[in-house]
Amino acid sequence: MKNLIKQYEQTFAEILGARRAFAFWKGRVALYAILKALGIGDGDEIIVPGYTCVMNVNPIKYLGAKPVYVDIEPLSFNIDTNLLREKITSNTKAIIAQHTYGYPCDMDTIINIAEKNNIPVIEDCCLAIGSKYKGKIAGTFGKAAYFSFQWNKPYTTGLGGMVITSDAELAEKIESLCAVEMYKPSRKEVAMLWAQLIIYRLLVYPETTAFAQSLFRFLTKKGAVIGSSSTSEFVPEMASDFFRTAGSVQARAGLRQLRRIGQNINHRRQMAQLYDELLVEKGWPTRQYDTSIMDPVLVRYPVRIAEKGKALAEAASAGIELGSWFECPLHPKETPLEAYDYDIGMCPKAEKASNEVVNLPLHQRVNEMTAKRTVNFITKYTFNKPDINSKARVVSGYE
Ligand SMILES: Cc1ncc(COP(=O)(O)O)c(C=O)c1O
Repeated sequence: MKNLIKQYEQTFAEILGARRAFAFWKGRVALYAILKALGIGDGDEIIVPGYTCVMNVNPIKYLGAKPVYVDIEPLSFNIDTNLLREKITSNTKAIIAQHTYGYPCDMDTIINIAEKNNIPVIEDCCLAIGSKYKGKIAGTFGKAAYFSFQWNKPYTTGLGGMVITSDAELAEKIESLCAVEMYKPSRKEVAMLWAQLIIYRLLVYPETTAFAQSLFRFLTKKGAVIGSSSTSEFVPEMASDFFRTAGSVQARAGLRQLRRIGQNINHRRQMAQLYDELLVEKGWPTRQYDTSIMDPVLVRYPVRIAEKGKALAEAASAGIELGSWFECPLHPKETPLEAYDYDIGMCPKAEKASNEVVNLPLHQRVNEMTAKRTVNFITKYTFNKPDINSKARVVSGYE
């Protein structure tokens, strides 16, 4: 088993062009390992976008640090670097650059601000495998990066996480942390995850996703499957066995996914381009970005609409796969925001995006026919124009 995990880590590191990789039970555990190895603790401030998943903020809180939220650019959904500078204080100990939906962050500016202030950058690549910024792959700009392989991610191993780093000192620290503090998943959990992966393969198609999702939620509540997050993870208190390594099921599934990662990335590019074309045919404006700066590989294709709630409900009964993350600045809607130091109004652009954005699938089971059905469905609703200024990155097609 050890060898299988090592093999998975080495293959992942090679593909991403990093020196080392470390596999974990989930993406959030991977972030925790980075933060802990960086020595983050009480009173430290960590910068994160106010448009993320609460599970991404948990590791910060577990270590006694404070999340500091920065609002997003309305078109790339990434940290607005114009607002980043003013959030930096003498307590800032890391910046998390989340490449949202696969759109790369403005890395030149982020790295520049970080270097001037001697703050490490951690890249959140949970939604971005293969995206490039100025020809360089996302995940190789900062001190470290982390990935997630939960079932909505660019590829899935049921649950899963990975850290990559080329910083020898950090790698050594993560290695010793893992040697001393890491738990192993139980046999029961590994068996459950294996069964979940099989159910996923049999059940999750664009037409059946809504049903599969409700089924998984129901089974998670009953304790019959592991699920992405247990109820205890919706409070900022760490479970004693949180810090867990990946199991052999994840390594085997991950190695299989990595053998076809090129195909996965090409498919995502082609389907995103098809959505661009189909939306234009329907008279909807689409994204336009400077290809000399970014080459995104999207996990899902975000679209803003006026009637989000209605569209989601109607999509579920029509067998159309529509995603709805992030539903609030710290997804999901049930998150007790005050427990995570988020006050409503802190990130107005992120809050607006949460109310408007639905995302269209790009995974391997989406084909031309499902893409057309999805676009025919979504264009029945009203396109919502984002609030942008002339300096906005990514799109120029909304004027
Ligand atoms: C952007 C982002 N980062 C990190 C995570 C945490 O990943 P995981 O669910 O594997 O812990 C998520 C959650 O899905 C996420 O959406």
